[in-house]
Amino acid sequence: MFGPHCYFLFLTSAAVVTALSPQQISSYTEHCKRSSPKFNKCMKNALQLFVNDLNKDIIDGETLDPWVMPELPLIYDAGVSEKMSVTLLGVSLHGLSNLIVKNVRSNLKDKTKLRMEIDLYDNLMYFNGNYSAELSSNTEVPITAEGSFNITLVDLKGTLLLKGRTVKRNNVDYLQIDRASIKPDVGNLYIDVVGENDPYPELTALVMSLVNQYWRLVYYEALPLIEEGLDEIIRSYMDEAISNIPFDTIVPA
Ligand SMILES: *[C@@H]1O[C@H](CO)[C@@H](O)[C@H](O)[C@H]1NC(C)=O
Ligand SMILES: *[C@@H]1O[C@H](CO)[C@@H](O)[C@H](O)[C@H]1NC(C)=O
Repeated sequence: MFGPHCYFLFLTSAAVVTALSPQQISSYTEHCKRSSPKFNKCMKNALQLFVNDLNKDIIDGETLDPWVMPELPLIYDAGVSEKMSVTLLGVSLHGLSNLIVKNVRSNLKDKTKLRMEIDLYDNLMYFNGNYSAELSSNTEVPITAEGSFNITLVDLKGTLLLKGRTVKRNNVDYLQIDRASIKPDVGNLYIDVVGENDPYPELTALVMSLVNQYWRLVYYEALPLIEEGLDEIIRSYMDEAISNIPFDTIVPA
């Protein structure tokens, strides 16, 4: 399904994190001194408190749990004449506030090579939303489909690796994240799709039953793409959240 000539494009429109103000964000971590031997433990606790509050801080009705994503276009291009585009609409992710911060390891001594590893676990995450898909080829009338879907992910774990450095603006150091990589390991996954006016409901049911049996193959094939997509999403959110907070305010020396 994901051959070498196929690719997805994750186009993330500008992320908006109005749910959390810069002051709120640094208030979690400002007690963690970089020079302290207990920095990692302090950071683990700070991040856990931050995560626990993801379903709380509401400004203008926005939360990060559930997290309602902007329209997400995925383009599958077989490189020949056929092209499939799937757009996910109004996708909500539920369960970020269940995340457990298991461990933090860091090296913040060299400001040109900052590094932090965060071990994460989540027993349940749930996506739901609508989709619209179009399969077009040069020769035929495009086939379109739409409907709703949900994906349940059970026993997720992974290590978020953040790499970055500080950049100076007006003689003040700000944190810049260059890479945010995580390869989530999924214990189990269930997908349900219901098509609207689906002309082939038996076919859809068959495809879904295959997906639910063989998702592991597809998931691990697609993992590099998922990793790239997550890197972009996490970095754009972090950029917006922390780009105006001095590094020494986020984590004092
Ligand atoms: C999905 O589509 C249905 C039917 O058109 C609509 O009622 C619902 O609000 C949509 N949900 C989202 C999350 O956009
Ligand atoms: C989503 O999940 C629920 C169970 O939680 C199920 O009843 C529903 O039919 C599912 N499918 C869609 C497409 O919403």
